[in-house]
Amino acid sequence: MEALNKQLTDWAHDYYVIDQPKVSDADYDKMYHELVTLEQANPDFILADSITQRVGGEVLQGFNKVTHQIPMMSLNNAFNKNDLLDFDTRIKKLTDRHIDYMVELKIDGLAINLRYVNGQFVQGATRGDGVIGEDITQNLKTVKSIPLKLKEPLNIEVRGECYMPKQSFIQLNEQREADGDNVFANPRNAAAGSLRQLDSKVTAKRNLSTFIYTVASPEAFDFKTQNDSLIDLAKTGFNINSERKLCQSIDEVWDYIENFRDKRHQLDYEIDGIVIKVNDFQAQQEIGYTVKAPRWAIAYKFPAEEAETVIRDIEWTVGRTGVVTPTAVMDPVSLAGTTVARASLHNMDLIMEKDIRLLDHVMIHKAGDIIPEVTRVLTEKRDDTSVSYEFPTHCPTCESELERIESEVALRCMNPMCPAQIKEGLNHFVSRNAMNIDGLGPRVLEQMYDKGIIKNVADLYVVTEEELLTLDKIKEKSANNILTAISNSKTNSLEKLLFGLGIHHVGAKAAKLISENFQSIEGVMAAEQEAISAIDTIGPVIADSLVKYFSNDEVKELIAELKQAGVNTDYLGQTAADIANVDSPFKDKTIVLTGKLTHFNRNEAKERIEALGGKVTGSVSKKTDIVVAGEEAGSKLEKAEKLEITIWNEAQMVEAIENSTELN
Ligand code: IVH
Repeated sequence: MEALNKQLTDWAHDYYVIDQPKVSDADYDKMYHELVTLEQANPDFILADSITQRVGGEVLQGFNKVTHQIPMMSLNNAFNKNDLLDFDTRIKKLTDRHIDYMVELKIDGLAINLRYVNGQFVQGATRGDGVIGEDITQNLKTVKSIPLKLKEPLNIEVRGECYMPKQSFIQLNEQREADGDNVFANPRNAAAGSLRQLDSKVTAKRNLSTFIYTVASPEAFDFKTQNDSLIDLAKTGFNINSERKLCQSIDEVWDYIENFRDKRHQLDYEIDGIVIKVNDFQAQQEIGYTVKAPRWAIAYKFPAEEAETVIRDIEWTVGRTGVVTPTAVMDPVSLAGTTVARASLHNMDLIMEKDIRLLDHVMIHKAGDIIPEVTRVLTEKRDDTSVSYEFPTHCPTCESELERIESEVALRCMNPMCPAQIKEGLNHFVSRNAMNIDGLGPRVLEQMYDKGIIKNVADLYVVTEEELLTLDKIKEKSANNILTAISNSKTNSLEKLLFGLGIHHVGAKAAKLISENFQSIEGVMAAEQEAISAIDTIGPVIADSLVKYFSNDEVKELIAELKQAGVNTDYLGQTAADIANVDSPFKDKTIVLTGKLTHFNRNEAKERIEALGGKVTGSVSKKTDIVVAGEEAGSKLEKAEKLEITIWNEAQMVEAIENSTELN
């Protein structure tokens, strides 16, 4: 068990910390299951640092308080160049030593303190008021970039930031919106909410990560500088942010800041500023502290990016699960690099809470640096005639009465035959992670539905060429491509179908686990609630939803129709042969995307490359195989040139993607 745990831990570190996976997911999963099996048979021998403990443990009653032996201080702020020049002058007055500055990104998450005894992770805490924080050890154990055991048996306390990557934040909010739950305002709140869970199994699903930036008592070790300590922390197994820079002067610091002012929007995580630290530890000691903050460091804060506009309309759209969501239609304004004219208002509660009205002047920002949102209403600019917003009472598509379900913040259309819901369901069914049927975009599906060619997903499999040719802009060639794509989808493994059915709460990951467990659609349909929720990481909510879904006679009918049409309903797994069969220049290669992409957005490009057997990482290193440089590529491109790594432009990438055959 020790040997398995060591190997798995090393592989996980390669994957989550240094971004260089060494084995396939299948090999990793196989060994992981071997360890789980041994642990189930020998529960007394489960290792304290077993990687299996990362899935979360018992539900707590509350969090214990933790007193920080060394207080967690805060930082003084700088808002402009003058503030920085003043800081530099103060420093030079307080010491005669030569000063280098270490500049680091100010990660916008939550400060954490991690305590290790004998190399074992024993306690993780929040900052709290700086002296007393909360014990969130259980939750932090689920964060994969936090080592449970260090490479050496050290007694050490380290500090850093726990954060949620922008993309994970966006996906989490999309899911919450579809489930009728409250959305998080920004990645920082999402990270805070995730760490404040009494049930660590919830935290485990939230995809949090960390950057460690300091040792609590560096004098106990042999480090001379902040730079040395960071290099050592990385060697010890911690995740260290690679964008730091050692600067010789405050002017150089300013250049770094200017550079990140725009570049920060391209990072995978949010930053709210830049931290400037005196690099030399002895110099730090000479310069000293105030009560609240070190004198040897300062945080430069970027101004929050906001814009003012006017709300012209609120549109309501029906999603796949019947949730009706509002979107503000606004006068176009430019914000953090793009023109914004629409913003999701998420749900009815949010409109009430902010008292948003038509014709209101509002301030907007970008949550997670990407999603436009209304931050506040400028009530002082309101007209006398302004009245509270009146919520719709009927579905904008099928006109059936909307319901508000207790425990949900959403309005729902409860009509399962609502055309908007069915169309969304069809779009979901053909999407990449579901049945992956190319050529059937929303417009084509909408026409097929409106013309009565299809009324459910099973009908797709009996569509004829003649029927397709009646659609707008569909000629013989595209009709044939569509028919081939539909036909190819019949051989998909069960999880794609199960996800594609769009069962409430059943995401792609859950669908995979459930399919793996029950092997066939019959197995899933016959499974009882207990058997489903016994699967690791599948909770009762998902299990209930599945059982309820498959108890419906219309659903049984639909499954029978799909089988009749020849759609595979067995779990096929991803065999080694599948992976070996991929033919693409990305296979087994590490790729970095940088600069502006125009053909695909970043996420799409990443998905496509991953489906072609490539691994997309965020930073350029010697192990990078290809750097794809879009427009205005910056430091990553420079680094790639220095390291003589193959550089492609976007067109080369698109061509390579389109000439490759994908894994399903
Ligand atoms: S050093 C003595 N470095 O910013 C204080 N802090 O406003 C040492 N933060 O509570 C903090 N990134 O949560 C430091 N690279 C970084 C940081 C960082 C984010 C946060 C941290 C701290 C807050 C101070």
